[in-house]
Amino acid sequence: MKLLVIGSGGREHALAWRLKQSPRVQKVYVAPGNGGTAREEGLENLPLTAFPELIEFCQRDGVAFTLVGPEAPLAEGIVDAFRGAGLKVFGPTRAAAQLESSKDFAKQFMTRHGIPTAAFATFTDAAAAHAYLDARGGAIVVKADGLAAGKGVVVAQTKDEAHAAIDMMLAGNAFGEAGARVVIEECLQGEEASFIVMADGEHILSLATSQDHKRLLDGDQGPNTGGMGAYSPAPVVTPELHARILREVIRPVVAGMKEEGVPYTGFLYAGVMIGEDGVPRVLEFNCRMGDPETQPIMMRLKNDFATLVEAAIDGRLDQVEAEWDRRYALGVVLAAAGYPDSPRKGDAIAGLGEGDANVHVFHAGTALDGDQVVTAGGRVLCVTALGDTVKMAQTRAYEAADRIDFAGRQMRRDIGWRAVQRKGSGRKKP
Ligand code: AMP
Ligand code: GLY
Repeated sequence: MKLLVIGSGGREHALAWRLKQSPRVQKVYVAPGNGGTAREEGLENLPLTAFPELIEFCQRDGVAFTLVGPEAPLAEGIVDAFRGAGLKVFGPTRAAAQLESSKDFAKQFMTRHGIPTAAFATFTDAAAAHAYLDARGGAIVVKADGLAAGKGVVVAQTKDEAHAAIDMMLAGNAFGEAGARVVIEECLQGEEASFIVMADGEHILSLATSQDHKRLLDGDQGPNTGGMGAYSPAPVVTPELHARILREVIRPVVAGMKEEGVPYTGFLYAGVMIGEDGVPRVLEFNCRMGDPETQPIMMRLKNDFATLVEAAIDGRLDQVEAEWDRRYALGVVLAAAGYPDSPRKGDAIAGLGEGDANVHVFHAGTALDGDQVVTAGGRVLCVTALGDTVKMAQTRAYEAADRIDFAGRQMRRDIGWRAVQRKGSGRKKP
């Protein structure tokens, strides 16, 4: 069968690469794809983004199902459009994607269903937001309500910073419609983990746990980014915590959405902060897989991924299981000069040789200029490796990453540090 993956990032390269490994899959189209998906055997880029064109292509070419990578087309209703045309597609509807596309929707939903999260208030009026801030002490987080490509969150260290964030979003209109409402919430302390599942409206299949590194620089310093590296599993998610997150967060979301008449289908990503008190609180929901979390997670998935997605589309997730490589996988992001503010494009990338079976270089912001692969976006590559320990995966990923070069390359040197530090701390959950 032929499949389609929507998107152009490292996440989509990893999803398409994994789908292609199914013996039943002949070809995976990636729309629009990147320089890596253009070169990967069995993958083919499709220069289409408009829903009607994509739908027409799937109908004409007999695409068996479509997997949607990024949040933007989901929030625009790509799943509704594909289903309306009688096509099989995995992802949430536009209404269900509000768990990500409106922070206020997500917070209100969590309140209704008793899901643990930071205390919050929502504002459209700047004066009211400023007054609320003045009445509160301590560190605070200001978030644009809508999608802002990962830039809509300000974790303010001081009240002045928080006031400035309100002005930028509400008065300054920095994010347009997306910032016309802001959510102000209590700043949570602890360690973050990414908890991602597949949902079919009713049943849940947990994927392996992972941890991202959002800051640009070593030691979690510098500006927030889309993610500079990730690894799986995340030992902070012990078996007890895993069960607790399923019980207190994931199941109530899927049951609650169903109950409210908006059944949740697709990947569901809960970003959780695990506090000193051991309580997992939701920072955010994403209605898709994480990037770069997907890259290490897909390296570890042992099942036929196409079969899992088909089961999800058909509402049979209770009848399948996911099997994970027992090893760690760790991915290091190589970002372009100027990322995250103004990434430079067009730098030639050298050293993209053949990897070994334990290493895969997933492309994100790359394009082909003739035969030459060049940078074409902020996060350029994610070099991902497997290893028996997190340290071994880390060493292997950095050895491979160090062979790749382009002008202005930015890369953190410490991806996986929390897990390396925690080494020997015992049991982990896939
Ligand atoms: P979000 O888009 O809501 O995930 O926010 C992006 C990042 O901001 C998260 O991954 C956290 O690192 C941080 N963040 C968001 N909300 C909070 C919060 N309430 N307390 C502390 N950090 C937060
Ligand atoms: N890596 C974080 C995200 O995908 O939102």
